[in-house]
Amino acid sequence: MIQSVLITGANKGLGFEAVKQLSAAFPNAIIFLGTRSVSRGQEALTKLRAENLGEHVQVLELDMSSDDSIKRAFEYVRGSVANLDVLINNAGISSEGNTAADVFGTNLFGVKTMIDTFTPILSQNGLIINVSSEVGTWSQNSMNAELQDLLSKIEDVTWEKLADLTADYQSPTPKHTWPSVDKTFGPYGVSKALLTCYTRRLAADNSNLRVVAVCPGYCRTEINGNTGFRSPTVGAASIIWPIFNPSFEVGLLYQDGVSQPFSAPMAPHIAAYLSGHKE
Ligand SMILES: NC(=O)c1ccc[n+]([C@@H]2O[C@H](COP(=O)([O-])OP(=O)(O)OC[C@H]3O[C@@H](n4cnc5c(N)ncnc54)[C@H](OP(=O)(O)O)[C@@H]3O)[C@@H](O)[C@H]2O)c1
Repeated sequence: MIQSVLITGANKGLGFEAVKQLSAAFPNAIIFLGTRSVSRGQEALTKLRAENLGEHVQVLELDMSSDDSIKRAFEYVRGSVANLDVLINNAGISSEGNTAADVFGTNLFGVKTMIDTFTPILSQNGLIINVSSEVGTWSQNSMNAELQDLLSKIEDVTWEKLADLTADYQSPTPKHTWPSVDKTFGPYGVSKALLTCYTRRLAADNSNLRVVAVCPGYCRTEINGNTGFRSPTVGAASIIWPIFNPSFEVGLLYQDGVSQPFSAPMAPHIAAYLSGHKE
């Protein structure tokens, strides 16, 4: 039985929906609702309580772009629970209005800091879920053979190489030829390709770590101006699926419980939807 969960970026969108579903499924579990704004977190908690949910939900101030904030959150959690059963790295930002440094900082470096910080208090069968995206899969597919090779030969991948790739992507004189921004939705798709790759590497390095990447699918939330064709309810269920299905394979990327390729072109129905022709 799950007794404690921490989910980042949970004051709205898919994170909030995930808290809702988890507090219904595990009414006695302590759920830390991570939020960079305490007031937005409190508003989210008020909404939950109005639905008679979230009795044991606690608002946790946590800004993924700040190592100090992550450290403070860790101290708080460590003082509240002996162990953490599930860590869901959900918070994320798109390329819209954000620099590449911000996008990599929140979507990739923040996740690594969270994992490095919280792994020591993970329960023995603790689970880490990294919320990645199919946009990373499409982005990897749009990369040239050299970059695709770097990401797919997982035995040669290191965290340092992934960090170097983020620096190269932002360099005015990059060593690598990166796909055009329209192919990767700017740095967002690259950050998610690297996040999925990092998840694979972590799983390969740590046979005792239950770590997995998930994609919620294209859902109606603020990250995309509410343009997605899936509901947040369905997307959140896709995020928390591994909690209910412990026989998943570590290091893979799942959507709706089905493992996904690490590199593939955008599915035609999504391409059609994006170009204005709804399914
Ligand atoms: N929606 C989709 O179609 C879709 C598809 C694939 C993957 N995803 C992924 O799903 C995850 C959740 O996205 P969403 O759709 O729910 O988007 P959303 O509605 O925009 O929610 C994003 C959440 O992340 C938080 N956040 C952003 N930067 C943060 C930071 N530095 N520290 C802490 N929290 C931060 C936001 O907080 P504020 O309210 O303070 O901004 C918000 O709570 C993201 O990782 C996203 O990439 C979404």
